[in-house]
Amino acid sequence: MNACYTRELLDDGSKIIEKFKNLKLDGANVTVPHKEHAFKLCDEAKSISEKIGAVNTLVKDGSKIVGYNTDAPGFYKSIQSFTDINNALILGAGGTAKAIAFILNDKGIKTSILNRSNQRLKFFEESGFEAFTWKDFKIKKFDLIINTTPAGLKDENLPLHVETLGGLMSQSKYAFDVIYGRITPFIKMAKKHSLIYKDGSDMLLFQAVLAFNLFYNNKFKFEDIEKYMRYATVL
Ligand SMILES: NC(=O)c1ccc[n+]([C@@H]2O[C@H](COP(=O)([O-])OP(=O)(O)OC[C@H]3O[C@@H](n4cnc5c(N)ncnc54)[C@H](OP(=O)(O)O)[C@@H]3O)[C@@H](O)[C@H]2O)c1
Repeated sequence: MNACYTRELLDDGSKIIEKFKNLKLDGANVTVPHKEHAFKLCDEAKSISEKIGAVNTLVKDGSKIVGYNTDAPGFYKSIQSFTDINNALILGAGGTAKAIAFILNDKGIKTSILNRSNQRLKFFEESGFEAFTWKDFKIKKFDLIINTTPAGLKDENLPLHVETLGGLMSQSKYAFDVIYGRITPFIKMAKKHSLIYKDGSDMLLFQAVLAFNLFYNNKFKFEDIEKYMRYATVL
């Protein structure tokens, strides 16, 4: 392929489209903390990205720069082996929580949010989600518990008080941690409660597969891109 995929450091998110044009790009992935800027500044935001308010993929389409969010469908694809989920609880209320909440809601899974503080909950409440802080939350049964906080990324912290998390896990079926590349305390606890669990490595891979295909107008088979990307990750 006559193409190059590389990294570019962007200090000022408000310059994202300017940079995209100056570099004469056909496509780009956008990462934290510029996903919201990319959403606001692209010419058109497609499908679920409109609800989330963040895009992680930009694609040149003629004279337009179109934004997409592949984190959300990437997450959903990565939980395909989890069946019969009626409700889910998301720990954390940041950008990743937004992507996951909207895709689960779109798929008919009743989704609640639990965060340590209340500032970020307003967005979820206004979007129709049930949202709690640690203070006003009462333990009940959720089929799936998802950690979207960075707790456990570089430390040995749990995303929630051990008693509350234990109470939740003793009633649930599945656990998902968006963190990848290490066994987090959240995953350790899920194992202890014999839950079916996954880390964030497939989510990471699948959002990349979907973004890559968008760069090429979806002309490839998902499985073909996945095969080569998985191969590249072990090189
Ligand atoms: N696997 C993947 O493909 C993938 C994709 C995207 C992101 N991620 C990972 O997802 C994580 C979150 O990213 P984000 O962009 O959503 O972050 P973010 O927007 O900064 O949000 C972080 C959320 O976690 C809460 N939080 C932070 N530290 C906490 C702690 N020690 N205990 C409990 N809650 C805590 C924050 O609560 P407050 O509101 O109280 O501050 C906030 O709600 C990162 O670890 C990132 O690497 C993975």
